[in-house]
Amino acid sequence: MSRKKLLLYLIFALFAAGVAIDYFILKREKVTYSNRVAKIIFEKCTPCHRQGEVGIFPLVTYRDASRRAKMLAKVAREKIMPPWPADYNYVHYAGERYLTEKEIKMLEDWAESGAPLGDSTKIPPLPEFPTGSQLGKPDLVLKMKDVIPLPGDNRDKFLLVKIPYEIKQDTFIRAIEFVPGNRRLVHHVNGHLIQYEYDKKKDVFGGETFVQQYTGMPQEEMYKKINLLNDDGSYPMLTGSITNYLPGVLPAIYPQGIGVYRMSRKGALLLKNIHYGPTPVDTSDQSSFNIFFSAAPPERPVRDMILGTFGISKIEPPLVVPAGEIKTFHTRVVLKTDISILTVNPHMHLLGKTFLAYALTPAGDTIHLVKINQWDFRWQFFYTFKKILRIPAGSVIHVYGTFDNTTANPNNPFNPPQTIKEGDEFEGMSTTSEMFQLIISYMPYKKGDENISVSNTFK
Ligand code: HEC
Repeated sequence: MSRKKLLLYLIFALFAAGVAIDYFILKREKVTYSNRVAKIIFEKCTPCHRQGEVGIFPLVTYRDASRRAKMLAKVAREKIMPPWPADYNYVHYAGERYLTEKEIKMLEDWAESGAPLGDSTKIPPLPEFPTGSQLGKPDLVLKMKDVIPLPGDNRDKFLLVKIPYEIKQDTFIRAIEFVPGNRRLVHHVNGHLIQYEYDKKKDVFGGETFVQQYTGMPQEEMYKKINLLNDDGSYPMLTGSITNYLPGVLPAIYPQGIGVYRMSRKGALLLKNIHYGPTPVDTSDQSSFNIFFSAAPPERPVRDMILGTFGISKIEPPLVVPAGEIKTFHTRVVLKTDISILTVNPHMHLLGKTFLAYALTPAGDTIHLVKINQWDFRWQFFYTFKKILRIPAGSVIHVYGTFDNTTANPNNPFNPPQTIKEGDEFEGMSTTSEMFQLIISYMPYKKGDENISVSNTFK
């Protein structure tokens, strides 16, 4: 054997031994709380599972996690937690939260071996979470003026709520974060901003705090009840939707100058709709909003485009889901100009099964928007693209939604199933009618938009 060959053999033998040693060490290293599990939990679970947040129990200490180790492994394996219905193989978004297969396996191994602590001095430090916020320290907190009573009648409640304020001077809002008072019952919130001209409204605080929606009362009368109109009876300025909340949703924070709102000295947050789930016992809510100011004035407002129900595009065939059937619907829109998409929000109710949206460009490319393989009514995120997504003029946005109105759907509100139709203005929001919607927040395209990163933090 030549020396050269021998050397090669030697190198190979050393290499193989190294691999084997690595393998045995890795094999032997048990998954413990301190070496693996704490990090996973702090990143993927604790943001919601801590004091004052939506998760129903804390996942902060070793004991919090170890006493539930089997349950954590189970919800991880079944992809129930962390809630993230979007298919991350289809699109990646800013602030996405899911567990990789490797992480799921670690949680399982850990639970199986009795949830060992490991070296307690090596537990990574708990990340700093702001109190009462997912974002940071707000510049202003606006709380509902009164406590809203929620009687124990087992019925959904939809309210119109006014949260008035007066501040020292006009300013700009960079981000608004909803903080539910009653975390179990608040299902969703859709809010607008009222901007009073200073002289046109003497007292912004008068009037009722809330009115029941969908009672047949005309909107104008509801507005009078909450004392929304200017003193001369005219309407104040009302922005488009500026805050949307669903459990677990993080508000998007756009780059400076994008999606900023003027906040006048006198004004109010108008919750056009706050939806409370049913409760068997009398309870109440007093929710609040964290407001984060912006130094820069608004340069580029963000708009909403709604496809499907209440939107600009027709649903084909019309949204009727016959009892006992699984049926797919489609809606499409052709873009006349280039747009820059920031977020997409798919919306269906309890019969939802799958959801798919993409754009087909004139050049024949497919741009992925969102794919949900297993619809979950409880988690309807505003999926924020990591970078602003340009869709060129002439593209067709296609949206497909499949609804399951069989008894195999555990969320079916009727047994036996009943034919379910698209809700009208009054019942659109109730969970026993259906909706098929894609809400796209966007701006007219400007050169360079596709290089702008968007995130869920101020950094
Ligand atoms: C976006 C917020 C959020 C995140 C992130 C999150 N959870 Fe949850 N979790 C909740 C809420 C809210 C509930 C209450 C049940 C519900 O509404 O489905 C819950 C319930 C649970 C339950 C009880 C499930 C049941 O069926 O009763 C477990 C176990 C759990 N979470 C574990 C985890 C683990 C483990 C992680 C991280 C891998 C995690 N959660 C991440 C919000 C969250």
